[in-house]
Amino acid sequence: MDNAIFGHRSIRKYKNQPIPDKILEYILEAASRASTTGNMQVYSIVVSTGAEIKKQLWESHFKQEMVKEAPVVLTFCADFNRFVKWCKMRDAQPGYDNFLSFMTAAIDALLAAQNAALAAEHKGLGICYLGTTTYMADKIIDILELPKYVVPITTLAVGYTNEDPGLTGRLPRRAIVHNEKYQDFSPEEIDSLYHDRENSAFTKELLKINDKATLAQIFTDNRYSKKDNVHFSQQLLEVLKKQGFMNNK
Ligand SMILES: Cc1cc2nc3c(=O)[nH]c(=O)nc-3n(C[C@H](O)[C@H](O)[C@H](O)COP(=O)(O)O)c2cc1C
Repeated sequence: MDNAIFGHRSIRKYKNQPIPDKILEYILEAASRASTTGNMQVYSIVVSTGAEIKKQLWESHFKQEMVKEAPVVLTFCADFNRFVKWCKMRDAQPGYDNFLSFMTAAIDALLAAQNAALAAEHKGLGICYLGTTTYMADKIIDILELPKYVVPITTLAVGYTNEDPGLTGRLPRRAIVHNEKYQDFSPEEIDSLYHDRENSAFTKELLKINDKATLAQIFTDNRYSKKDNVHFSQQLLEVLKKQGFMNNK
């Protein structure tokens, strides 16, 4: 498992080679062993392997090639549908049509996803998360026919790797770990924490290609702009309303 954690790198190119059923079963079983709130398991995993459904998903995932290439695409969903049905059948009044319940289910889904990712990597497969899941949740709901109380949270492309990228860098651990209480950052500490990342050859190339003065501008202006964030936030809030999670009264 050490290899899976410390050897992890996202894989975006896959061989045209199916995953044996036994290995897929292992990955899904590993996902199901994740902790969940109250052991309610309020998430679900949609397994897509067919070319036609993957093509539809690919369109929604901004045409990222790995969605078509990977033999297996796993969509992890926040899911209160099953649980609400069970409650109603057992003379119990469900109170899960609210934002907190959505967060509960989304957390369950993410923990299961990371278990699946580690299990796949442990078996020598490559994985990549797809953040486009929440951007395009409305389209993915239609494609996968997700009922009320089900919202796609994240997607994993899984398959045999057809590339060998190196490990990506990380910020120094002091950027993310605080002892006892949060210690806020001075401008000098911010300079120091981002120094290596800002001065890598990779960043210098990115700045040239994107014609930007700083790495931060590539995030704010190109990759995750305010305009896009507001647009996709509005879309996601509509999805939460439509799927029944915004009756906060
Ligand atoms: C929630 C989430 C969404 C992501 N979405 C995408 C994506 O849509 N496309 C992509 O190529 N990589 C995506 N990634 C992969 C990240 O870019 C990658 O994890 C990060 O750059 C660190 O690289 P590493 O995973 O190789 O260590 C996503 C990762 C996470 C955790």
